[in-house]
Amino acid sequence: MKPQLLDIRRLRVELAPRERRGERRTVIHDVSLSVAPGESVGLVGESGSGKSMTAKAVMGLLPRGAVATGEILYRNRAVLEMKGAELAGFRARGVSMIYQDPRAHINPLRTVGDFLVEGVVASGAMRRPEALEAACALLRDVGVTDPRRRVAQYPHQLSGGLLQRVMIVMALLPSPELILADEPTTALDVTVQSDVMAILSEQIRERSLGMLFITHDLDLAAAVTDSLAVMYAGVIVEHGPAADVYAAPRHPYTAALLASRPSPTSVERPVSIPGRPISAFEAGEGCVFAARCSHATGLCRTERPDPRPVATGTVACHYAEELEPAEGVRS
Ligand SMILES: Nc1ncnc2c1ncn2[C@@H]1O[C@H](COP(=O)(O)OP(=O)(O)O)[C@@H](O)[C@H]1O
Ligand SMILES: [Mg+2]
Repeated sequence: MKPQLLDIRRLRVELAPRERRGERRTVIHDVSLSVAPGESVGLVGESGSGKSMTAKAVMGLLPRGAVATGEILYRNRAVLEMKGAELAGFRARGVSMIYQDPRAHINPLRTVGDFLVEGVVASGAMRRPEALEAACALLRDVGVTDPRRRVAQYPHQLSGGLLQRVMIVMALLPSPELILADEPTTALDVTVQSDVMAILSEQIRERSLGMLFITHDLDLAAAVTDSLAVMYAGVIVEHGPAADVYAAPRHPYTAALLASRPSPTSVERPVSIPGRPISAFEAGEGCVFAARCSHATGLCRTERPDPRPVATGTVACHYAEELEPAEGVRS
């Protein structure tokens, strides 16, 4: 087996009850997922499926009162058991996070430069002048002209696209081995989305970084990752090489996701998935997708299928071997 950078094994996350004596809500049921050094893995699913919560668990940033069980190994070290200096060191140097909305994660009252270097200076990795120097070099790498002027500016003076480049630079500055990118282009104008995505992909490739790329957009994930994990209601229903999952989806949910997206090349109307997406805590004993699946039987409604190897990947469906792969997209 190749050594993993990140290895999530049977992760389960329960949130604290909303009211006293209320019930704990499970938001991640049973997630196993790994990222090898230099590998890009896409975590794809509809809103509410538990993608961000998975990333938060890896960063040790779950909401107060949440309980995570299972294992999260980073280079064989148990993240869920890290505390104090070890956890701080892991967050400062091992893994960096890029969020959806840069403005929600930036202090509007401080200059871009102050914000950019504060993490690496606080962790003791670099002194301030050296950190600013390195940040300006990285800003040039991601296509920001005149970085010296930019670092003296305030966030409101930068466009959303420029600010997200600043966030990419902040993530790269401590030379991490793993990037968690949570919908990094979703909040941007469509016109700048592809620029920012191209820059992020290029930096990841050049530095051979591992990446967990979180998105609701299957086309985007298929274009920029090596393997894809498709998540529904806190469960990974399909996992495999990105090109294979995209070309021949085997889980009915993956097939439905692909069929429901508007195609830029077709005039046909997308087929929407019947029913509404559910959260993990609303799923009963059976398959999480049973209520919306056209192939579901009694077995699906009563027994949760484990992921099983099919073709080049794994599929959590009782009928994985019998169902023909759906018509996907060949790239
Ligand atoms: N801070 C929070 N407190 C309580 N529930 C939350 C919180 N954040 C997310 N949730 C719930 O957890 C589930 C998973 O959410 P999330 O991981 O954010 O989904 P995704 O990123 O796939 O859209 C959803 O049911 C959501 O409502
Ligand atoms: Mg999210």
